[in-house]
Order: sequence, then structure tokens, then C-alpha cells
Amino acid sequence: MTTYKLLVLPGDGIGPEVMAEVEKIAAFLTYEGFVKFEVEKGLVGGSAYDVHRCAISEDDMERAQAADAVLLAAVGGPKWDNVPYELRPEAGLLRLRKDMQLFANLRPAICYPALADASSLKREVVDGLDLMIVRELTGGVYFGEPKQIIDLGNGQKRAIDTQVYDTYEIERIGRIAFELARKRRNKVTSSEKRNVMKSGVLWHEVISALHVREFPDVQLEHQLADALGMQLVRRPKQFDVIVTDNLFGDMLSDVASMLTGSLGMLPSASLGERNATTGARKALYEPVHGSAPDIAGKGIANPIAMISSLGMALRYSFNMDDLADRLDRSIARVLEKGLRTADIAGGATKTISTSEMGDAILEELKIAVH
Ligand code: NAD
Ligand code: IPM
Ligand code: MN
Repeated sequence: MTTYKLLVLPGDGIGPEVMAEVEKIAAFLTYEGFVKFEVEKGLVGGSAYDVHRCAISEDDMERAQAADAVLLAAVGGPKWDNVPYELRPEAGLLRLRKDMQLFANLRPAICYPALADASSLKREVVDGLDLMIVRELTGGVYFGEPKQIIDLGNGQKRAIDTQVYDTYEIERIGRIAFELARKRRNKVTSSEKRNVMKSGVLWHEVISALHVREFPDVQLEHQLADALGMQLVRRPKQFDVIVTDNLFGDMLSDVASMLTGSLGMLPSASLGERNATTGARKALYEPVHGSAPDIAGKGIANPIAMISSLGMALRYSFNMDDLADRLDRSIARVLEKGLRTADIAGGATKTISTSEMGDAILEELKIAVH
């Protein structure tokens, strides 16, 4: 059996709490012989800053590059509000994405039937929801240069961020979206603001040309990003795959999380290009949520987004769709039983802790794999 190198980066805040639940599941899968994980641990974010005075050490960067998959929980928190901008916790995550060239961020939003009443929207609006946001992750305003604050010398300062996209960056993220749609409901919604931004004009042009050239069988529509935000809360089930840039994708995926009941439910996969000979690709799996400083240390965080991120790793890095399906079903069953962490609690449900949720999912998984 192939041994897969897994680099585990728990990070800050609730990060270590939710990662502990994933480690239980990874240990179970290894122990039962489903997969052989060689797990290494590293530091990222504020926890790395406290030890190394940087948001990720060169050593951990090298281990991330060498890993078959990286699992990251979350970074950031008020403790590091005053560290220099270049050393802030989030810089560690951004460096991982950029240096590993993880340009494709897949953020599925699925509303488990048992949770349709936990959403802030009406049951009929979200029940059965299954959409996929494909967010470009290594370009756009996150990384464009110049990016600086200039002192104008008259008591004024000027802050500059630059949105930049090249054809190849739009094309490769578009290709990921169209290929995913072919395996789903065959529809892509591309989103930008071409009415205001030059990058939106190019985005629209490149996605349209790619559609005609390589994916004429897939249904394509374009929606301006502000209108798409509105449609996501009005009639979210119209969407299958949404493809958009780095910043719009960040915002729209937080919006989408509330359709599923909680930000604590959304996993993600950040993928690089496939190696032409081996077929392998660099990959990092992380929840959409952050370090949730408001609930850190209380043992009440929802570990489902982190556990589902392991599921995405099984699917996208290790070709173990069947095991990933069983893990997803185990999560669904725990929710059907009415077990909830505080963020999704309500009605006649039982509120349980982070580790009780991890244990409950593990118990269901034990049944699901035997
Ligand atoms: P956040 O996602 O950490 O929290 C937003 C709200 O959602 C909070 O009320 C929090 O309690 C709740 N929440 C989030 N995850 C939850 C979970 N698993 N279970 C239950 N409730 C959950 O966003 P924020 O407060 O804006 O940011 C806090 C810090 O996290 C910032 O430093 C930010 O930069 C960072 N952040 C990191 C990542 C990441 O590492 N991928 C993502 C987003 C934000
Ligand atoms: C996310 C986060 C990150 C982002 C931050 C922490 C840099 O919000 O992964 O959604 O903006 O991409
Ligand atoms: Mn975000």
C-alpha cells in the first residue's frame, strides 16, 4: 500500500481543537488499513510566529512542498494584531498558497437535509442545496503589485492594492470549473464585475472563449458579482458550479456557508496543476472558516468543516471516493440523530462538544466501513 505523507498544520484559535478530531479519524483509517498516512506536524500562523518570529518557517515550507497533502485548520487572532504586516499569521497561509501554486480553491456548499432548519433562510430555499464555488487562489488583488501604503507627506496616506489577471490564470481556473461541472449538473456560472473592472472584461472574454473552444456541451452563464451575491441568498439552488476570482470567491463562499447552516460546515481543497507524468498534484485542505477567537479554548467549535476537508483530501489527493462518501454519510447520520455543536443547534437537538462530535462521526464511520 502506498504511504501518503500528510503535513498537519493546526494553526491558531480553534485550529488545534478541530484538527484533533481529524487526527482521530486519520489514525483510525491508518489503523484499520484503509490508507497509510505518515503524519508530520508543523506550525503556521501565530503559533509559528511565537516560536520562529515568522508566519511559517522555511523548514515547514519545505515539508509542505514535499507532502502528498497538507491539512491546515486556521490562522490568526487578536494576540497577533500588532505584529508587523509581513509577519502576520495570515501571511503564512498566503505563502503556502502562492509558493505551492495552489491556484484552484474548491469550496463546496452542501445543505445536509437534517440542517435545512439551521440555516437563516427558509427550509425550501436551501433544502437539497449542492453547489461548488471555484475560487481562483493565487492571483488577483491578493497578490497583485504594487501593494503598498505611501505617505504623501501632507498628512495624507495612499493605500494601493492591484487587481491583476493574465489570460492563462483565468483559463486554468475556468478549465477546472468546466471539468467539475461535467461530473455534476453540467452548469457553470462565471462571475466578475466587467461593468467596472478591466480584469472583469478579460475574465468574461477568456471564460467565454474557453467555453466555445473546449466545453460547448456545458451550460455557461455570466452573472455580475454583486448580483450573484443577491441570487445566492434569493435562489441558491439555481447554481451548480460558480467560478470567480480570489476576492469575490472569498466573500461569496462565506455567504454560501450560511446556506448550509454554519461557517463551521464548509470544507475546501486548494489544488495545484497536475504533474504531466505522475498525475500527482500539490494540495492543501482547509476549512473555509477562520480561527474563531470568540469561541477558542471553549471546546465548542464545530469540527465538521475540518473533517470534511479530510474527506476532500481522500477524494482529490488519494483517489478514495468511496471512503470519502462513507465519511460524508457518517457526518449526515450524526446530524440526522440530532447531535449538534452549538453553532448549528436548535429545536429538539442535543448540543455536544467538539470532541463529542468527532467521536460521534468516528463511531458512525466505524459502522459505515464494515
Ligand atoms: P472566523 O471564520 O474565524 O469566525 C466568524 C464567526 O464564525 C465567529 O463568530 C466564529 O465563532 C464562527 N465560527 C467560525 N468557525 C466556526 C466553527 N468551526 N464552529 C463554530 N463557529 C465557528 O472569522 P473572523 O472572526 O473574521 O476571523 C478570525 C481570524 O481568523 C482572523 O485573524 C482571520 O484573518 C482568520 N481567518 C483565517 C482563515 C484561515 O486560516 N483559512 C479563514 C478566515 C479567517
Ligand atoms: C479564507 C480566509 C483567507 C483569505 C485569509 C485568512 C487570508 O479568509 O481562506 O477564506 O482571505 O483567503
Ligand atoms: Mn475567507
